[in-house]
Amino acid sequence: MNLTINGKKYDLPVEDDMPLLWAIRDVAGLTGTKFGCGKGLCGACTVHLDGMAIRSCVTPALAAKGKAITTIEGLSKDGHSHPLQRAWVEEEVPQCGYCQSGQIMAAAAFLERNKTPTEEEVRQSMNNLCRCGTYLRIRKAILRAAAYSGKETA
Ligand code: FES
Repeated sequence: MNLTINGKKYDLPVEDDMPLLWAIRDVAGLTGTKFGCGKGLCGACTVHLDGMAIRSCVTPALAAKGKAITTIEGLSKDGHSHPLQRAWVEEEVPQCGYCQSGQIMAAAAFLERNKTPTEEEVRQSMNNLCRCGTYLRIRKAILRAAAYSGKETA
Protein backbone atom coordinates (compact mmCIF):
# COMPACT_ATOMS: atom_id res chain seq x y z
CA MET A 1 0.00 0.00 0.00
CA ASN A 2 1.19 3.50 -0.81
CA LEU A 3 1.05 5.72 2.26
CA THR A 4 2.35 9.25 2.78
CA ILE A 5 3.78 9.73 6.25
CA ASN A 6 5.30 13.06 7.29
CA GLY A 7 5.44 14.14 3.66
CA LYS A 8 7.40 11.05 2.57
CA LYS A 9 5.91 8.40 0.28
CA TYR A 10 6.15 4.79 1.47
CA ASP A 11 5.29 1.60 -0.45
CA LEU A 12 4.58 -0.80 2.42
CA PRO A 13 3.56 -4.48 2.66
CA VAL A 14 0.35 -3.63 4.51
CA GLU A 15 -3.11 -5.28 4.26
CA ASP A 16 -6.14 -3.00 3.98
CA ASP A 17 -7.42 -3.90 7.44
CA MET A 18 -4.11 -3.72 9.29
CA PRO A 19 -4.38 -1.10 12.06
CA LEU A 20 -2.68 2.06 10.88
CA LEU A 21 -0.64 2.01 14.10
CA TRP A 22 0.97 -1.27 13.05
CA ALA A 23 1.76 0.12 9.61
CA ILE A 24 3.37 3.20 11.15
CA ARG A 25 5.32 1.48 13.93
CA ASP A 26 6.09 -2.04 12.80
CA VAL A 27 6.25 -1.63 9.04
CA ALA A 28 7.42 1.95 8.47
CA GLY A 29 9.52 1.83 11.67
CA LEU A 30 8.31 5.13 13.13
CA THR A 31 8.07 4.22 16.81
CA GLY A 32 7.26 7.62 18.31
CA THR A 33 3.56 6.73 18.15
CA LYS A 34 2.68 4.37 21.01
CA PHE A 35 0.40 1.38 21.55
CA GLY A 36 -1.70 1.87 24.65
CA CYS A 37 -5.10 0.22 25.06
CA GLY A 38 -5.64 -1.02 21.48
CA LYS A 39 -9.32 -0.02 21.72
CA GLY A 40 -9.23 3.65 20.74
CA LEU A 41 -9.75 4.79 24.32
CA CYS A 42 -6.47 6.12 25.72
CA GLY A 43 -5.06 8.14 22.80
CA ALA A 44 -1.41 7.06 23.05
CA CYS A 45 -1.63 6.15 19.34
CA THR A 46 -2.92 9.57 18.19
CA VAL A 47 -1.69 10.74 14.78
CA HIS A 48 -3.10 13.21 12.25
CA LEU A 49 -4.93 12.24 9.07
CA ASP A 50 -5.22 15.33 6.87
CA GLY A 51 -4.78 17.38 10.04
CA MET A 52 -7.45 15.60 12.10
CA ALA A 53 -6.39 13.77 15.26
CA ILE A 54 -7.33 10.09 15.02
CA ARG A 55 -6.68 6.97 17.08
CA SER A 56 -4.47 4.89 14.82
CA CYS A 57 -4.94 1.61 16.73
CA VAL A 58 -8.58 1.40 15.57
CA THR A 59 -8.13 2.97 12.13
CA PRO A 60 -7.56 0.55 9.24
CA ALA A 61 -4.58 1.41 7.07
CA LEU A 62 -6.91 1.67 4.05
CA ALA A 63 -8.57 4.72 5.64
CA ALA A 64 -5.23 6.55 5.40
CA LYS A 65 -4.63 5.81 1.72
CA GLY A 66 -4.37 9.04 -0.27
CA LYS A 67 -4.29 11.13 2.91
CA ALA A 68 -1.47 12.94 4.68
CA ILE A 69 -0.43 11.04 7.81
CA THR A 70 1.51 13.06 10.37
CA THR A 71 3.20 11.43 13.34
CA ILE A 72 5.15 12.98 16.22
CA GLU A 73 8.32 12.57 14.13
CA GLY A 74 6.85 14.91 11.49
CA LEU A 75 5.28 17.54 13.72
CA SER A 76 8.28 19.89 13.67
CA LYS A 77 8.65 21.71 10.40
CA ASP A 78 11.73 23.28 8.83
CA GLY A 79 14.06 22.23 11.63
CA HIS A 80 12.18 24.28 14.26
CA SER A 81 10.51 22.67 17.25
CA HIS A 82 6.73 22.93 17.21
CA PRO A 83 5.51 25.50 19.79
CA LEU A 84 3.92 22.62 21.72
CA GLN A 85 7.23 20.76 21.93
CA ARG A 86 8.95 23.90 23.27
CA ALA A 87 6.14 24.47 25.76
CA TRP A 88 6.31 20.80 26.84
CA VAL A 89 9.99 21.26 27.70
CA GLU A 90 9.38 24.57 29.50
CA GLU A 91 6.59 23.10 31.62
CA GLU A 92 8.46 19.80 32.18
CA VAL A 93 5.26 17.95 31.32
CA PRO A 94 6.20 14.25 31.01
CA GLN A 95 6.53 11.82 33.86
CA CYS A 96 6.99 8.31 32.44
CA GLY A 97 6.44 9.85 28.99
CA TYR A 98 4.57 6.98 27.38
CA CYS A 99 1.40 8.92 26.58
CA GLN A 100 3.11 12.14 25.62
CA SER A 101 3.48 11.87 21.85
CA GLY A 102 -0.24 11.17 21.63
CA GLN A 103 -1.00 14.08 23.96
CA ILE A 104 1.08 16.45 21.83
CA MET A 105 -0.53 15.26 18.58
CA ALA A 106 -4.02 15.68 20.06
CA ALA A 107 -3.07 19.14 21.32
CA ALA A 108 -1.57 20.15 17.96
CA ALA A 109 -4.79 19.29 16.08
CA PHE A 110 -6.80 21.15 18.74
CA LEU A 111 -4.63 24.30 18.48
CA GLU A 112 -5.00 24.27 14.69
CA ARG A 113 -8.76 24.62 15.20
CA ASN A 114 -8.58 27.01 18.16
CA LYS A 115 -5.46 29.18 18.30
CA THR A 116 -6.49 31.15 21.41
CA PRO A 117 -8.24 28.65 23.67
CA THR A 118 -9.38 29.22 27.22
CA GLU A 119 -8.29 26.78 29.92
CA GLU A 120 -11.83 25.40 29.97
CA GLU A 121 -11.75 24.77 26.21
CA VAL A 122 -8.45 22.92 26.61
CA ARG A 123 -9.93 20.88 29.45
CA GLN A 124 -13.00 20.00 27.39
CA SER A 125 -11.12 19.06 24.24
CA MET A 126 -8.23 16.98 25.62
CA ASN A 127 -9.42 13.47 26.39
CA ASN A 128 -6.22 11.43 26.07
CA LEU A 129 -5.41 9.45 29.19
CA CYS A 130 -2.23 9.84 31.27
CA ARG A 131 -1.74 7.28 33.97
CA CYS A 132 0.89 9.46 35.63
CA GLY A 133 -1.66 12.27 35.97
CA THR A 134 0.23 15.05 34.17
CA TYR A 135 -3.03 16.71 33.11
CA LEU A 136 -2.38 20.02 34.87
CA ARG A 137 1.01 20.45 33.18
CA ILE A 138 -0.45 19.37 29.83
CA ARG A 139 -3.06 22.12 30.05
CA LYS A 140 -0.45 24.70 31.09
CA ALA A 141 1.80 23.70 28.18
CA ILE A 142 -1.02 23.97 25.65
CA LEU A 143 -1.87 27.48 26.88
CA ARG A 144 1.82 28.40 26.80
CA ALA A 145 2.13 27.11 23.22
CA ALA A 146 -0.93 29.12 22.20
CA ALA A 147 0.70 32.23 23.67
CA TYR A 148 3.96 31.54 21.76
CA SER A 149 2.04 31.09 18.54
CA GLY A 150 0.17 34.36 19.08
CA LYS A 151 3.48 36.18 19.48
CA GLU A 152 5.01 34.50 16.43
CA THR A 153 2.13 35.49 14.16
CA ALA A 154 1.68 39.00 15.64
FE1 FES B 1 3.18 8.57 32.09
FE2 FES B 1 1.41 10.13 30.80
S1 FES B 1 3.46 10.67 31.47
S2 FES B 1 1.25 7.98 31.18
